[in-house]
Amino acid sequence: MKILYFADTVGKLGREGITRQLPLWRETYQPDVVIVNGENLAHGNGIGRTQAAEMFATGVDVLTGGNHSFEGQGSLEILADPEVPIIRPANTSSKLPGRGYICIPAKNGQKILIINLISQEAGRYHYDSPFDALDTILAKTTGEAKHILIDWHAETTSEKAVMGWYADGKVSAVVGSHTHIPTADAKILPQGTGYISDVGMTGPYNSVIGVDPSDSIERFTKQLPIKPKIIEQGPIEINAVFIETEPNTGKTVHIEHLRKVVEK
Ligand SMILES: [Fe+2]
Ligand SMILES: [Fe+2]
Repeated sequence: MKILYFADTVGKLGREGITRQLPLWRETYQPDVVIVNGENLAHGNGIGRTQAAEMFATGVDVLTGGNHSFEGQGSLEILADPEVPIIRPANTSSKLPGRGYICIPAKNGQKILIINLISQEAGRYHYDSPFDALDTILAKTTGEAKHILIDWHAETTSEKAVMGWYADGKVSAVVGSHTHIPTADAKILPQGTGYISDVGMTGPYNSVIGVDPSDSIERFTKQLPIKPKIIEQGPIEINAVFIETEPNTGKTVHIEHLRKVVEK
């Protein structure tokens, strides 16, 4: 199975990056399934109905999330809608709407299970153990799909790597999201799990993880609690990972980080 995964897609420029680049990479890589992390789709925070619809119209099959999943106009309603192929981290409160995993048929006719997990070090909240959540989901879904991908929304590279090794041999791939900065460590672990610490965002190139650098400088140099503006002008950086899994075992046989910067 050929999987094309984009991590955090930030605001207007991020959405434009996907709509411009996806048709080109679709031609080159012929993906069977396209997954986008949508936690920053709606002006940097959350997932709105219009932005989600824009992504699905571009050919995105599933939207995943993170610490911003529950922000944005109408995000709770979209997450609760069983017709919308969107998931949020599985190890958040069971009182919240939405699903932490989804199993869908891909274009090659095989099924893929997509799981969303968030680290206990990402954001302000005390999430449940992502490792226990993974074990529970895998026990519940045994035999449903040979191909399993985890969108692993985590902050530090050490915790990201630990999930890779914990899940090695149990899932097809663990792809990192959340930091918005790509890492150069795409690899195949010994038991056949594809791994990358962070795929990196799709969004404004001239920014600090999507926002205005001058706002970020104010915040960091003066410790002012200002809300930084999302950059909506200038070049766009597009980051993704292309993964190929073996049809009978679901093991990763190829993983490749893709990166492009385009002028607006
Ligand atoms: Fe993000
Ligand atoms: Fe995040």
